[in-house]
Amino acid sequence: MNIILLGPPGAGKGTQANLLVEHHGMRQLSTGDMLRAAVKAETPVGLQAKAVMERGELVSDEIVSALIDAELLAMGEHVGAIFDGYPRTAAQAHSLDEILGKHGRELDHVIELAVDEDALVDRITGRFTCAKCGEGYHDRYKQPEVAGVCDKCGSTDFKRRPDDTEETVRTRMAEYRAKTAPILPIYEERGIVQRVDGMAAIGDVTSAIEKVLASA
Ligand code: AP5
Repeated sequence: MNIILLGPPGAGKGTQANLLVEHHGMRQLSTGDMLRAAVKAETPVGLQAKAVMERGELVSDEIVSALIDAELLAMGEHVGAIFDGYPRTAAQAHSLDEILGKHGRELDHVIELAVDEDALVDRITGRFTCAKCGEGYHDRYKQPEVAGVCDKCGSTDFKRRPDDTEETVRTRMAEYRAKTAPILPIYEERGIVQRVDGMAAIGDVTSAIEKVLASA
């Protein structure tokens, strides 16, 4: 199965993709994670992407589509793919069709996480993760049980994304409205878009997505 999780910054794409990976053994293909890894490793792609990401703008279509193509090639044809944060432009949607065709895959569902944008700034600016295991926390909604110690691995080292400032989040949302939301009709025409309430509790969002997947 191949699915796209579509929604603005903070809609819960990464959260839900992680849960689907756990429950279904699918593979999460997050272009944001791939780009952050490239920035950290100071690869040529990372050096090109760093400033663009810090401004909250979109990295070039060619770069992200090449990353997706390479990941699909490496992951074997029988593993399902969850596209998280890709495609984000009409050109990327077109490239994804070509890439999927090349790898003998078809898109089964585009799941749109419908959210209230005003609540998202709070979700994003309050989040932080364990620097060691990546477990996610939030200043208001999910603090570690023992202050300053990761529940999962015991590390005391936490980090925040440099693009999670309010100003950058607003730019990321504007980019979503201008360039990503307009690609929805491409998939609506194919009858594969399902809208899920992304403002519900995390477990309820997962249940709604599971229902969509079971309807295939
Ligand atoms: P990317 O990493 O893709 O970031 P994003 O789309 O802005 O999405 P986020 O990761 O911020 O949010 P999310 O929807 O995954 O929400 P999450 O689950 O974390 O992209 C970053 C940058 O990379 C871009 O700005 C761009 O520069 C570049 N880039 C990436 N892909 C690109 C592409 N294809 N083309 C060009 N450039 C690209 O949840 C957020 C918080 O909310 C968490 O704290 C979570 O615990 C909480 N939460 C989640 N769901 C719920 C819920 N239901 N109720 C309460 N809290 C919730």
